[in-house]
Amino acid sequence: MNHSISLTINGARRKVELDDPRVTLLDLLRERLDLTGTKKGCDRGQCGACTILVDGRRINSCLALAVSFDGAEITTIEGLARGDELHPVQAAFIAHDGFQCGYCTPGQIMSAVGLIAEGQAGDDPERVREAMSGNICRCGAYKGITEAVIEAQAHMTGAKRGEAA
Ligand code: FES
Ligand code: FES
Repeated sequence: MNHSISLTINGARRKVELDDPRVTLLDLLRERLDLTGTKKGCDRGQCGACTILVDGRRINSCLALAVSFDGAEITTIEGLARGDELHPVQAAFIAHDGFQCGYCTPGQIMSAVGLIAEGQAGDDPERVREAMSGNICRCGAYKGITEAVIEAQAHMTGAKRGEAA
């Protein structure tokens, strides 16, 4: 039996027919909607490569059954840049060499965007590392990742304050 769900993905409304209720959001994005920026590492909730935002909160999409997310708003790595203009977190990862092979990077960046929105990490590298600990980097680019998150956070909260002033 098919299940029909509707999702808003990177601002665009999509109606999706699921022929299998067990399909995960990760497989839906990658295999059926051609959004392959979100990576599959472990497929069991241990590496964070598949991190996306659902209704603004970061989740591991490999553990999420698509059928449970009818009506949700989803942001993937493909939805961050505005045309040629990178999202501040993307720009900070480049500026701080926050990657080597790049496989974990979309998940790291989505997790960082979620973390900054949570407003919990502050500028303490230890706390940032802890808050990003669900995202594993086999290349060990943690120093650059942490610096990038701190810089992007400062930039984005400064920009917000500027808007409010
Ligand atoms: Fe989802 Fe590893 S692929 S946590
Ligand atoms: Fe290679 Fe993180 S940059 S796994």
